[in-house]
Amino acid sequence: MIKLAITGCTGRMGQMLLLEANDNPEIEVVGALTRPGSLFIGQDLGNVVGENPMNIAITDIPMEAFKDADVVIDFSKPEALKKTLEAVLHKKIPYIVCMTGLNIEQKIALEDASQNIPLIIAPNTSLGIALLRKLAVISAEILGPSYDISISEMHHREKKDAPSGTSLFIASALTAIEHLKANKPPYPSLSPRPLGHIECAVIRGGSSVGDHSVFFAGEKELIKLEHRATDRGLFAQGAIRAAQWLYDKPAGLYSMDDVVGIS
Ligand SMILES: NC(=O)c1ccc[n+]([C@@H]2O[C@H](COP(=O)([O-])OP(=O)(O)OC[C@H]3O[C@@H](n4cnc5c(N)ncnc54)[C@H](OP(=O)(O)O)[C@@H]3O)[C@@H](O)[C@H]2O)c1
Repeated sequence: MIKLAITGCTGRMGQMLLLEANDNPEIEVVGALTRPGSLFIGQDLGNVVGENPMNIAITDIPMEAFKDADVVIDFSKPEALKKTLEAVLHKKIPYIVCMTGLNIEQKIALEDASQNIPLIIAPNTSLGIALLRKLAVISAEILGPSYDISISEMHHREKKDAPSGTSLFIASALTAIEHLKANKPPYPSLSPRPLGHIECAVIRGGSSVGDHSVFFAGEKELIKLEHRATDRGLFAQGAIRAAQWLYDKPAGLYSMDDVVGIS
């Protein structure tokens, strides 16, 4: 049984994670963190998703939320990272960072922290996206520098960061390839289009859970790899799988590729 603390517990993904965790006999939710000033502070966690009381009071104090936890899954916001990171480091708890929109300083802080705790940065926890990223890299290597690569994504109208963390994550894998390595985020569209430039296109609207496509445009053909998330439970299940994989690992920086065994 793994004891789980959830941060961002009152949000779209936090609630979904709670429902998935409560359905999983190998997971026990033991703590829940939300934003300072939230009206949910002090309420029972079960109320958030309309379930029976769980005898877990929602708190805005990380050390309190994490006091019994074996692992922390974070679906909150980048502004929450500093305090959460201090607490997981202090308590030496494995940490899965699922929020997106992290800046360079925050990514460096996470890399530094991974010298002391096991840590996964997972801007997308779906198995399908891990596969899409791998297929994108294989395709770019085989097709070579004459194909223009574009990543497009659509998300619900409330999403704050753009391009999505997933688009940037796919692009970062591509920039390890020789003919693409001069690319730097945020990968804007350029016109006329230079060779070897990745572009990320963004659409926001409605309640879209998350669509990502990678296009390889050649002189006489177009190849498109596509992933569509149709239910947020997908990401919650992936985060739980990551927690089950991470909780007994040594300190280090891991990714969903490690969790699903894609090398
Ligand atoms: N890794 C993945 O597969 C994946 C999948 C989907 C989404 N995401 C990312 O996960 C994050 C959350 O997404 P969402 O759709 O669930 O957003 P959301 O509905 O806005 O939920 C965010 C949650 O974080 C809370 N929060 C805000 N500031 C906080 C703070 N300082 N300390 C603690 N909690 C704080 C919010 O509380 P209030 O509502 O009170 O402000 C809310 O409960 C986003 O970055 C999103 O891009 C990742």
